[in-house]
Amino acid sequence: MLNFPKGFLWGAATAAHQIEGNNVNNDWWVKEHAVGTQIVEPSGDAMDSYHRFGEDMKLLADAGLNSYRFSIEWSRIEPAPGFVSRAEIDHYRRMVDTALECGLNPVVTLMHFTVPQWMFEKGFWRNPDAPELFARFTELALPIVSDGVDYVCTINEPNIAAMLAGGESAANLVAFGLPRPDLQVADALLASHKASREVLASVPGLKSGWTVATQAFHSTGEPGADEKLREYAYPSDDWYLENARGDDFIGVQAYTRTFIGPDGPLPVRDDVETTLTGWEFFPPALELGVRAAWELSGHVPVMVTENGIATADDTRRIDYTDGALRGLHAAMEDGVEVLGYLHWSALDNYEWASGFRPTFGLVAVDRETFVRTPKPSLAWLGEVAQRNGLA
Ligand code: NOJ
Repeated sequence: MLNFPKGFLWGAATAAHQIEGNNVNNDWWVKEHAVGTQIVEPSGDAMDSYHRFGEDMKLLADAGLNSYRFSIEWSRIEPAPGFVSRAEIDHYRRMVDTALECGLNPVVTLMHFTVPQWMFEKGFWRNPDAPELFARFTELALPIVSDGVDYVCTINEPNIAAMLAGGESAANLVAFGLPRPDLQVADALLASHKASREVLASVPGLKSGWTVATQAFHSTGEPGADEKLREYAYPSDDWYLENARGDDFIGVQAYTRTFIGPDGPLPVRDDVETTLTGWEFFPPALELGVRAAWELSGHVPVMVTENGIATADDTRRIDYTDGALRGLHAAMEDGVEVLGYLHWSALDNYEWASGFRPTFGLVAVDRETFVRTPKPSLAWLGEVAQRNGLA
């Protein structure tokens, strides 16, 4: 039996725009409906979790999990600049209370990719006031997180957010569509993260950090590939891990690996198993990400805030998670401090530009009736949580 430390968080994660439905005031909703969009389908009602969050949390708790990570939607709380919806603040506070009543430790994300459309129109993260605007939003969120919330993630995957912003200009596209990060946006996200952490520091006991997409970049070993790897991986990944130095925790999100050749990132090889997102099935990604985060941040405690696969074959989800957890345990044996493991995702959901097809959930959702059906992987992870160990 591989044991995990007492108090370890075992949970699942979601993000507002991917499950709530009808987030009509954010930048994604506008992009989903733009003429000629590359996004395969709009998010619509998504999983209707805005109304069904209690049922969702109960499923996780009943299975044996003890934590739930979800995000709050800035565009609902501040749909127009300076206009604050008290009802939406109450809504998210009710989510926190419901999680606590179910015995789930709530991990709250403030910004999971989406911003209010007005913020996007005002220059997005390139607006010089962005850190101030985000700090002001954090203040609005204080009643949600100021009692009973131990962990707040300020910004989800700032490195991917900076890549997506970089991708707005076609000239930024490198091999197979992976854009180079926009470094101005990266700096703005870091300043916004710091401004938000300062606001959160007023809540006694609350721990805050950002969650980084660790991408397990590997060199192919060809001439020139190692240099390319350093040139590519640092601004895409390592910089964000280093900048978590001094934070209360660092969120690690890991899924797969990417090979870098002399010309940059390479497409996934034909001879490997892939998942519904087209990524290589590669459970060791988690151990690699966690070790990198621990070293580069100068030993900031790690929270696994996302890890999982999109598959229609739930036995592969269990195999993947089992493999990832064994790697995580090995890193912990070597002294890496890990606070918890939050699987992506609680529910099948809206996978951004890919739409609803890639199913990451421990729970299936009927898109017409919204009926939830737990998959065997939920029961499996719940048992791991109850044992606090892997058999
Ligand atoms: C990272 C993102 O935070 C999340 O929104 C996304 O659905 C998963 N990875 C899977 O791609």
